[in-house]
Amino acid sequence: MTETKLPVDRLLHVADLHFWRVVFDPLRLANKRFLGNLNVALRRRHEFRMERAKPFADALAATEVRHVVLTGDFTSTSAEEEFELASEFVRGLQRRGLTLSILAGNHDVYTFEARRKRRFERCFAGLVPDTGFPARKALPGGTGLILMPTVCPNFLTARGRASQVDIEAAHRLLADCTSPVIVAAHYPVLHRTYGYASRVSRRLRNAEALRRMLGASGKRILYVCGHVHRFSYVQDPEYANVAHLSTGAFFRDDPEHGRQGEFSEIHVCDDGFRVFRHTHEGEWRRQAC
Ligand SMILES: [Fe+2]
Ligand SMILES: [Fe+2]
Repeated sequence: MTETKLPVDRLLHVADLHFWRVVFDPLRLANKRFLGNLNVALRRRHEFRMERAKPFADALAATEVRHVVLTGDFTSTSAEEEFELASEFVRGLQRRGLTLSILAGNHDVYTFEARRKRRFERCFAGLVPDTGFPARKALPGGTGLILMPTVCPNFLTARGRASQVDIEAAHRLLADCTSPVIVAAHYPVLHRTYGYASRVSRRLRNAEALRRMLGASGKRILYVCGHVHRFSYVQDPEYANVAHLSTGAFFRDDPEHGRQGEFSEIHVCDDGFRVFRHTHEGEWRRQAC
């Protein structure tokens, strides 16, 4: 798709970095982290290649788009060491001149202890809004960006939660935005698209209530999320004013399709949105969607 006019705003979307460290101390494995750590040891260390952090940060900066939205899952088990890696990466983006908006993913509140100690908020102090989430920002061209909280710790599942209070607060923030608006969250509100199908144990509780609120808002909305680790860009089948973008995991190795990671680029235009998918296939490629 070609653009006849310059976009009002441009931003990048980066999802699910999943920095990982294998924890060897048995005293620190006496909770859900035991399962998460096993998953890291067996799978994530091959799937999420941390050595790509620096060249991939360079690739984001090379797009010349200056705003990046990161929708969470910075870590794998919410361990302090993983937050340190994530923090180093985020500081590296800032050093490259990028402005950031961030949200927590379910892996950033992986244990009740991590939530209680507010590890995410402490790690990203200065980036987490003082008033908490949901929060509204304005991009340089005036586009509203709503950051919607959708995560909570769980004993065994990977389910998210959009509380009624947060949905109502987001509704009020949205009411003051001029259309079009970006709404970013960790979890998708659609459970299935051509790109993914979420198991019940990995879905957002109350997703329909959030989706209904967006649909009834009267604004043109791009709902941007991660969590599913797969790219998809679809029109909402019921609400003509809402489109949904899920971006694949930033460092995820996908040998089946010859990809080594990805991110999305969003252009906000007077008449809506344009989405470009950047994939690393030996080198970076950019494709209009
Ligand atoms: Fe997630
Ligand atoms: Fe994830």
